[in-house]
Amino acid sequence: MVPVRKLVKIADLSRDWWNAMYSRCCDIIARPEIYSNSCSGKILASMFYEPSTRTNFSFQAAAQRLGAGVFGFSDPVGTSASKGETLADTIRMTAAYSSTIVIRSPQEGSATASALYSEVPVINAGDGGHSHPTQTLTDLTTIAQKRGDIGNIRIGLCGDLKHGRTVHSLVEAMEMFPNISFYLISPQELKFPDYVLERMKKQGQTFEETEILADVIPELDVLYMTRIQRERFRDAGEYRRLKDVYVLTKKMLESAKTDMQIMHPLPRVDEISTDVDTDPRAVYFEQARYGMLIRMALLLDFMHLPRIAPAAVYDDPNAAPGECTNPACITQSDTYLPKLVSRSGSDRCGYCDKKTTTMLL
Ligand code: NCD
Repeated sequence: MVPVRKLVKIADLSRDWWNAMYSRCCDIIARPEIYSNSCSGKILASMFYEPSTRTNFSFQAAAQRLGAGVFGFSDPVGTSASKGETLADTIRMTAAYSSTIVIRSPQEGSATASALYSEVPVINAGDGGHSHPTQTLTDLTTIAQKRGDIGNIRIGLCGDLKHGRTVHSLVEAMEMFPNISFYLISPQELKFPDYVLERMKKQGQTFEETEILADVIPELDVLYMTRIQRERFRDAGEYRRLKDVYVLTKKMLESAKTDMQIMHPLPRVDEISTDVDTDPRAVYFEQARYGMLIRMALLLDFMHLPRIAPAAVYDDPNAAPGECTNPACITQSDTYLPKLVSRSGSDRCGYCDKKTTTMLL
């Protein structure tokens, strides 16, 4: 297998790589002491331009449990970004000092952009409402640990499917596994973005959309709850109207399968009532621990890769004419970035996957 040098989108993740990473993760779970010095002398650079508890801490803990050092920030105010430095230059510098970079940013496509300028591997720890591939590794690990394997399941994804980057990445990764059906449970306003739905249709994924959680609970093997993502709403009134649309309670679980898993990437706000926490089906806190363990397996792959000078960057000649107009896309602020094509179509931005627009003069 040719070593992969980035995990910025699910497209970077192959079934073979997943299998190798997961089996390493199982060995880490069984024999953690074997790994305690396996990255000594290596350094993780942790760049968090957006709040985080689990992802940030679990990467830091993962690196330290492998014997690596960590430097970074969890608030960009103290960095040269506040002096106007471009992302490309910040990445060049950070790569010079580290063995692997992990980046979280509110700007969609920022990790894809970072990987173009980095001589060390880059990991996307969440880019705006777009994607969150290492949360998906966490979710796959949890399902595999709890159910034995990942195929042949019915999964309900519930909540803010529009802005929730974890579910965007999860459905894409599920293309690798057989016989998965989805129930997409959200209000109309918070449905999956069209690029996700179009890709699901193109890939022949089975799904049903509904607004009513209680109607589908009895069908589910996994219920994946998500938070309504307050920080991504432009209209505070709309957030207030939708924020309590789903609240999972112990009572509602009476109609669920006895071996259903209740997952959540966390943080939880009000969408899972605390009386669910003691139900044996609630696995969300364990899920967070699996996140650290699978990130150890990922860092083991990346930290030892040789430093490689990044290739020169050019516009993709297959890009359809047009500009990305997504206000959250990294191309809005970092206008020097080359045009890239999305795997969802040549008329989509290769950073954020949203449709590009041709301006009529
Ligand atoms: C998620 C995220 O940041 O997208 N959290 C996480 O990484 N565990 C989910 C969320 O913030 O709702």
